Amino acid sequence: MGAGNDTILLKVKKGELPSHLAIIMDGNGRWAARRKLLRVEGHKAGATAVDKIIQASIQIGIPVLSLYAFSTENWKRPETEVNALFELLNFYLKRKAKSLIKNGISLRVSGDISKLPLKSRKLLNETITNTSSLNKLILNLCINYGSRDELLIAVEKLIKKRIVLGDIKKISSLPEWNEIEENLYTNGLPDIDLLIRTAGEKRLSNFMLLQSAYAELYFTDIEWPDFGESELLKALIEYQRRTRKFGGLVEESKTGK
Ligand code: IPE
Ligand code: IPE
Ligand code: MG
Repeated sequence: MGAGNDTILLKVKKGELPSHLAIIMDGNGRWAARRKLLRVEGHKAGATAVDKIIQASIQIGIPVLSLYAFSTENWKRPETEVNALFELLNFYLKRKAKSLIKNGISLRVSGDISKLPLKSRKLLNETITNTSSLNKLILNLCINYGSRDELLIAVEKLIKKRIVLGDIKKISSLPEWNEIEENLYTNGLPDIDLLIRTAGEKRLSNFMLLQSAYAELYFTDIEWPDFGESELLKALIEYQRRTRKFGGLVEESKTGK
């Protein structure tokens, strides 16, 4: 962390931190276009920003970090860009495997990775297995992720489990929320407390619609490759200024109920 950020870091660490921080990393293409570079150069610069934010999250003490890397809708992009994104993912996973372990980072994935190129699937599964016992930070990469897709898959899993149980009453009864939650990709992770989107767009683009039910939203014009530790600290300061109520009154908000 840069020297100028040290005092802000101390201040932020004293306040309440999000249990789960999620980021819609947007603006790689625009960052590249402004520099007359190819879009893929923007994605490469975006990967460097990912490193910085992972390190900063560990230093700050954020336990869960979800990063939106590829949406179910991003397949609409030209094949060359999609291929370049997965090549970059492969390169990143190979290069970072050791440092993830050294830093105590446990990798998870949210999304249907069965649609990914074989090499990416293999590397993801290997890294997930090799880091599963680590607990300094849970890095939840959202790849081929979309909330609607996630919900459809969750409902399918839930119905199948009920059928296996063979309880007729249960098969036709309304599910409890926790039964849905258990079947989402994010099973076991806390709800999102702070959701950041970079590059000026103010929309969720099919990201964690259910997990963000009470998330604080933070939008910044900074493009993802330029989003660094000081930008993250800025977002956290804003987060700590907000009053969360969860539908109750201010006094009750402290308990999160
Ligand atoms: C975000 O940057 C990265 C991915 C969606 C993979 P974009 O590629 O969406 O960048 P812009 O929005 O075109 O600037
Ligand atoms: C959302 O960004 C997806 C990721 C950041 C991976 P997009 O750039 O795909 O979103 P839209 O198309 O602007 O809504
Ligand atoms: Mg975009």
